[in-house]
Amino acid sequence: MTVPSVGPVTAVVPGGPVSPVVPASWPGRRRRRTALALLATVAVLAPVAWLWWGSLMPATYSVADMGVADGGGGPAVGHADHAGVPDVPDSRGVDTLRETSTAPTAVALTFTARREAVVLPSGQRVDGYTLNGTTPGPEIRVRQGEMLTVRLVNENVPDGVTLHWHGVDVPNGDDGTAGVTQDAVPPGGDFRYRFVARDAGTYWYHSHQVADEQMQRGLYGALVVLPPAPSAVAADVVAATHLYDGRRLVNGVGPTVVVPAPPGSRARVRVINTDNAPTAAWVTGAAYRLVAIDGTDTLGAGLVTGESVLVTAGGRADLEVALPADGSGARVEIGGSSAVVLGGSVAPPSPRPPGTLDPLGYGTPAPLGFDPAAADRTFAYDVGRRPGFVDGVPGLWWTVNGRMWPDVPMYVVSEGDVVRMRITNSSGEVHPMHLHGHHAVVLSRNGVPATGSPWWTDSLDVADGESYEIAFLADNPGIWMDHCHNLTHPSEGLVAHLMYDGVHTPFRVGGAAANDPE
Ligand code: C2O
Ligand code: CU
Repeated sequence: MTVPSVGPVTAVVPGGPVSPVVPASWPGRRRRRTALALLATVAVLAPVAWLWWGSLMPATYSVADMGVADGGGGPAVGHADHAGVPDVPDSRGVDTLRETSTAPTAVALTFTARREAVVLPSGQRVDGYTLNGTTPGPEIRVRQGEMLTVRLVNENVPDGVTLHWHGVDVPNGDDGTAGVTQDAVPPGGDFRYRFVARDAGTYWYHSHQVADEQMQRGLYGALVVLPPAPSAVAADVVAATHLYDGRRLVNGVGPTVVVPAPPGSRARVRVINTDNAPTAAWVTGAAYRLVAIDGTDTLGAGLVTGESVLVTAGGRADLEVALPADGSGARVEIGGSSAVVLGGSVAPPSPRPPGTLDPLGYGTPAPLGFDPAAADRTFAYDVGRRPGFVDGVPGLWWTVNGRMWPDVPMYVVSEGDVVRMRITNSSGEVHPMHLHGHHAVVLSRNGVPATGSPWWTDSLDVADGESYEIAFLADNPGIWMDHCHNLTHPSEGLVAHLMYDGVHTPFRVGGAAANDPE
């Protein structure tokens, strides 16, 4: 049996040749169908292509041109170089916003940055970065009110380096943010930071050029500003915790650090979380007090038992431990896998206690020095997440106030403003929010007002579903990053800026210096 072939419709024209006949309407119908399909494709793809195209970033740009000017209820004018916003003739460049004190230098340091292999205490070699040959870099100790200068020399870090003084309210020109407050220091170059250590407390420094990579691989260190009066504690130590290739080390020394302290004495342990995730600290063998958060002393800090302290990524928690008189020592546990062993304790580590200390109601209240109820500006920093494009790359990206980077807010303030900001998080992950150059006070969390010692913070852990009200005084003119300190997140667009009117930046992201602050 033969299967008839399915061919074109034919008609037999009497007396004529046999020829295929296609109904007259066919080519038109086919074309129409093709056109419709094309249209549908375009209708679907055009907005996507438009979004993709619109997300592409130029090779070089000013952060001051970025984003959507947000005056927070006040005027949003005066960005000298903000597109579409009037210039002010006497606008100041951030490079001119430097230390104005003429006090002589009390501590002068030179830090040489290198990219090199680092040998961990375990013997493992990892690719990393060092300052003066070590990671972390040298611990800096100065007294409150002293002038500090640090000359940063880049020996061989190909991407360039900077130093950002995390938590220190330095003049903007010393903030160390590549492409915003300075150019990254190229190999063979140097930059001199100079500022007065005005506030006593625990701080740290790290590179803010390709920060995600350079910080994780070791380009950071501790900065302690001691109060003018000598302290009564027997031991005052830094415990900078950092994950090197997944291994937690304290001060780069080992998972545990041993600190001598006599029985019955007190020790202050300054825990600095230099990682991307929050960690917990608690004490084995003694009660303790949380005597400072993010560099600011807590007032009326009571004894803590059965609770751990949450240390925000980028944040600091100073624990004061009263060592037992019987010589049994104590341990400050950090994250459960590392510790500071005080007074030769041989006690085994204790598990993390069930409770977590809530700074919202810890200690005794005190005046703030300004009235948050009389705010000049009120901002929202609402962190979310949705699919879209960032710089042409499709993904599930962070949003700020519903928009994706670079369409994030540019918070505009005037010097002297009282500023309130609501930070909410509905993104599914925790975000340690860090505003450069300022300390903000927590007013409330999830609508519950703060009642304890003023909770001044520069690194605030905002968990998924949480909402914070914070306030600060705009007393440090410049252009300041306001970003998440899980440093993989800013490189995914979770970055905004606070900008004072009448200030501009001569620096550019990208460009000849290849500035890349994230
Ligand atoms: Cu610890 Cu933008 O920095
Ligand atoms: Cu984040």
